[in-house]
Amino acid sequence: MRLLLCALFLAFQGTGTWDGSTNGLRTPDPKAPGNFATVPDNYTYSIDLSTLWTNSSVTLKEISKGAAPVLNNVALWLDASGEIFYAYDGSVSKALPTFYDTPPPANALWQFEPSGGTGHWSQTPIPLSSNFAALSRTALGNSASGNGLGFVLGGVENYATYQYPAFADALWWDQTLVPGLVTFNSTSQEWFNSSSKGYSYYGFARDGVAHFVPSFGPAGLLFVFGGYTTTTSQLASTGIASMYDPTTQQWQDQITTGDIPGESANGCIVGAEGDNGTYEIFLYGGQVPGDAASTITNGEVYVLSLPSFNWQKQYATGTTGRYMMSCNVVGKRQMVVVGGIVIPQNVDWDTYNFGAGEPDPWDQAIGIFDLTEMAWKSSYDASASPYITPDAVKSFYTQHGRYPAQWDSGVVEDWFKNPGKSYRLLSKACLS
Ligand SMILES: *[C@@H]1O[C@H](CO)[C@@H](O)[C@H](O)[C@H]1NC(C)=O
Ligand SMILES: *[C@@H]1O[C@H](CO)[C@@H](O)[C@H](O)[C@H]1NC(C)=O
Ligand SMILES: *[C@@H]1O[C@H](CO)[C@@H](O)[C@H](O)[C@H]1NC(C)=O
Ligand SMILES: *[C@@H]1O[C@H](CO)[C@@H](O)[C@H](O)[C@H]1NC(C)=O
Ligand SMILES: *[C@@H]1O[C@H](CO)[C@@H](O)[C@H](O)[C@H]1NC(C)=O
Repeated sequence: MRLLLCALFLAFQGTGTWDGSTNGLRTPDPKAPGNFATVPDNYTYSIDLSTLWTNSSVTLKEISKGAAPVLNNVALWLDASGEIFYAYDGSVSKALPTFYDTPPPANALWQFEPSGGTGHWSQTPIPLSSNFAALSRTALGNSASGNGLGFVLGGVENYATYQYPAFADALWWDQTLVPGLVTFNSTSQEWFNSSSKGYSYYGFARDGVAHFVPSFGPAGLLFVFGGYTTTTSQLASTGIASMYDPTTQQWQDQITTGDIPGESANGCIVGAEGDNGTYEIFLYGGQVPGDAASTITNGEVYVLSLPSFNWQKQYATGTTGRYMMSCNVVGKRQMVVVGGIVIPQNVDWDTYNFGAGEPDPWDQAIGIFDLTEMAWKSSYDASASPYITPDAVKSFYTQHGRYPAQWDSGVVEDWFKNPGKSYRLLSKACLS
C-alpha cells in the first residue's frame, strides 16, 4: 500500500500546491500564454508513477475533494504506515467563486486514502480526550512529517483561516503571526503545541520549509530553513541549520559550510538516505522579495549532507527562479516539482507566470530532477536505479571526513555521532 503513495501514485492538491500562491491564481497554460490552465483548483490530482512520462505527456487524474474544504497552503502529512496522508491547516482559496462570502470552516483534520490510482477524502475523527480544540488554524507555517508525526511550525492567522466575529475587509490583509510548534502523533492521535522559542526569538515562523530526517537524533530530527521569524521582511539565515528533537522537545543549531544557499521564502525541500550512513537534504527555489537576481540564483538546487553539515550545489547556472511550488521524491531518486511562481531573467515583476505574463518554461508546470546526477531531466523514469549520494558530496567526505570541524554543542554532536536505533525509515520505500 505504501507503494501507492511512493512508487505508483503521486497525489497533490490543486489548491495550495498547484501554484501555492495565496491569491489562488493558476499557472497559465504554456501553450496559450496569458491564459490560465484548464485545471480547476478544487480537485486533488494523481499521476501514475508506474510508467514513463514527460511533462507534456503526463496525465493528471482528477479526484473529487468531496466534502473536504478547498484551502491554500495546506500541510500534507504521511501517517506512520505510509498508507494515507493528512491535510491540516490552510486558508480558504481565493480561487473559489464564493471566496468573499465563505467564512473559513472550523479547524479540522482531513485524510486521503488512495486506492487504485484514485482515492477519497474523509474527515479524521478527533478523540474527545484530545486538546485539538485549543489549536487555531494557521496558514503559511513550515510543515513536514516523518515517523508518523506531523509538524507545523508557526504560521499566520488571517480572515481566510479564522472565523472573525464580523467581516472587516482590512482583515483580509491583516496577518497575525502565531508562535508554537504543532505536532500530531498519527499513531496515538495526540496533538501537541510546544514552544518554538528555541527556534526564534518570538517563536514565530512563516514561509519557510521543514524536513524530517529519520536517521539522526534519538528518533529523528525536524530541520527548518528559510522564511521569516519576525514581523519584518528579514529572511531567516540558511547558514545555520535549526533542528528539533521531538523526544526531548528541544531546539538546537549547527553552523553549516560550503555553497550555502541564499536566504529566501517559499522554496521547497526533499531528502534522501545516502550511502555510508549519510542523509541528504535538497533545497530548491525560494523568493527574495524585490530581488529577481537572488531569486534566480536560488533557482539552482542545493544539497546539505548530514552529518557533515556541508552544502554543495547543482553545477549549472539557472535562468529562472521559482517559489511556492511543491517538491516530492518519487521513483527512488527523482524530485518532481509541481507548480510555483516563476521569475525569469531580466524581466520585471509584472511578468510572473501566474499573471498574464510569461508562460512557465515547464510544460504543465512540472519539472523532474535527478537527485544523484544533480541534473534536470526531460522525463520521469519508472525504473530508475536507487538513489546514491551525488559525487560532489562524496568527494567532500573523502577530503574532509564525516563530521563538521566544530560542533555548536555537545547535544548536536551526540545526535549525529550516536543516533537512536529505534527509528523507522518511512521514506525507504521510495528510495530503494
Ligand atoms: C470546481 O470549481 C468549478 C469552477 O468554480 C465549478 O464549476 C465546479 O463545480 C467545482 N467542482 C467541485 C467538485 O467542487
Ligand atoms: C500554540 O501556543 C501558543 C502559546 O500559547 C499560542 O500563542 C498559539 O496560538 C498556539 N498555536 C496554535 C496553532 O493554536
Ligand atoms: C507517538 O505515539 C506512539 C503510540 O502511543 C508512541 O509510542 C510514540 O512514542 C509517540 N511519539 C512521540 C514522538 O511522542
Ligand atoms: C518540461 O517541459 C519543457 C517544455 O516542454 C521541456 O523543454 C523540458 O525538458 C521539461 N523539463 C523538465 C524539467 O521536466
Ligand atoms: C564510509 O565512512 C567511513 C567513516 O567515515 C569511511 O572510513 C569510509 O571510507 C567510508 N566508505 C565509503 C565507501 O565511502
